[in-house]
Amino acid sequence: MRIKPIKEFNRALTPPPDKSITIRAVIMGWLSCGTTVIKNPLLSGDTIAAIDAVGALGAEVSFEKGNLIIKGGNFCSGTVDARNSATTMRLLAGAAAGLDIDVTIKGDASLSKRNMRSLISALSDMGAEIDSKNGFPPLTVHGRKLNGIDFDPSSPSAQIKSAVLLAGLSAEGQTTVKEQIKTRPHTEDMLKSFGADITNENGIITLKPSKLTATEVNVPGDMSSAAYPIVLGLSRGFCYLKNVGIARHELIDFLLSIGADIEEEVLGDRANILVKKSSLKPFTVSGALSAALIDELPLLAVLASTINGESIITDAAALKNKECDRIKYTVSNLRNLGAEIVELSDGFKIKGGSLKGGNVVAQGDHRIAMSMAIANALSERGGMIDDDKCVEISYPSFWELFL
Ligand code: S3P
Repeated sequence: MRIKPIKEFNRALTPPPDKSITIRAVIMGWLSCGTTVIKNPLLSGDTIAAIDAVGALGAEVSFEKGNLIIKGGNFCSGTVDARNSATTMRLLAGAAAGLDIDVTIKGDASLSKRNMRSLISALSDMGAEIDSKNGFPPLTVHGRKLNGIDFDPSSPSAQIKSAVLLAGLSAEGQTTVKEQIKTRPHTEDMLKSFGADITNENGIITLKPSKLTATEVNVPGDMSSAAYPIVLGLSRGFCYLKNVGIARHELIDFLLSIGADIEEEVLGDRANILVKKSSLKPFTVSGALSAALIDELPLLAVLASTINGESIITDAAALKNKECDRIKYTVSNLRNLGAEIVELSDGFKIKGGSLKGGNVVAQGDHRIAMSMAIANALSERGGMIDDDKCVEISYPSFWELFL
């Protein structure tokens, strides 16, 4: 795919539905008694992996007028393929760990290289029995009776928190999670709407064993996907984005803090967002903010490359265990496009200015491909992205941004 420089970007658009929320709704739909209706589901590589997996494990899946319908409460053993989706693998492992079934979860070549030790360790503390390839997929979960635990994550991960909570549904005794660093709240929020006995007070989540009841989930737009047109609007004109989920609002707060011109019309759990071309300041992202913006960091490195002055992104070592090593490949690709960027053990340091453009090797990673497509659009010459298919993982209509 060849990306040409974009001189002006003036668009109104609706970003794709939220990937994290769709996968959670699919898995909770499977766990629930009754019929769950998922409105505005994301249909992408990762969410289809989750839908196919619950279908193979006993859920009845259908589509009606654009809604995804899951009839749950029926559980069978089987082997499923999470493909590229670590969220599907980790949440499904947690959900299955306390059921009376055996589930093998495999993944594609990229997911098979991702470390599952923290997941296995947290679930094993609950009494789960999980076979792996020395801490790597495939995972085989032998469902059995679990016990609740007090989980104090050593590093922030929404996926592992979610796996523990889903396992806690069928455990004996309560499960608590105390996050030192907050991660996306979708699992705890959604468990409540599926009727779980769960509270979240001062950052301490307490879940009592619960049976879930099917419900309706209306999926808002994905903030992590919205981030790409937001950066184009901030740099080249304006962008009006409709129906963006604001449970992950940190990106907007962060952009406002560096001088972005952004207006929001908030409607419950979502907002219509207008971003206008802005003169931005160089920035530091670290600590809790790095965890909150973990999926946006390669794109923020791109943005930093276009802002005069030095920006630094640290406390983001988790990027190394994503679909590829996102520190390494953000640095190598941005350098190839003319950026002055230094690789740190937990992030990057960038001396911003302008990008020349150049060819990108995305490593099959959707967020590297999309971030570097934006980088080329903001560059003098533009360049080629070697893999245009991988955006299917989270943002199937991504290339329409460049038409
Ligand atoms: C996700 C959590 C994050 C994120 C991933 C989606 C989720 O991963 O990077 O894209 O839906 O819970 P970690 O839990 O590994 O930080």
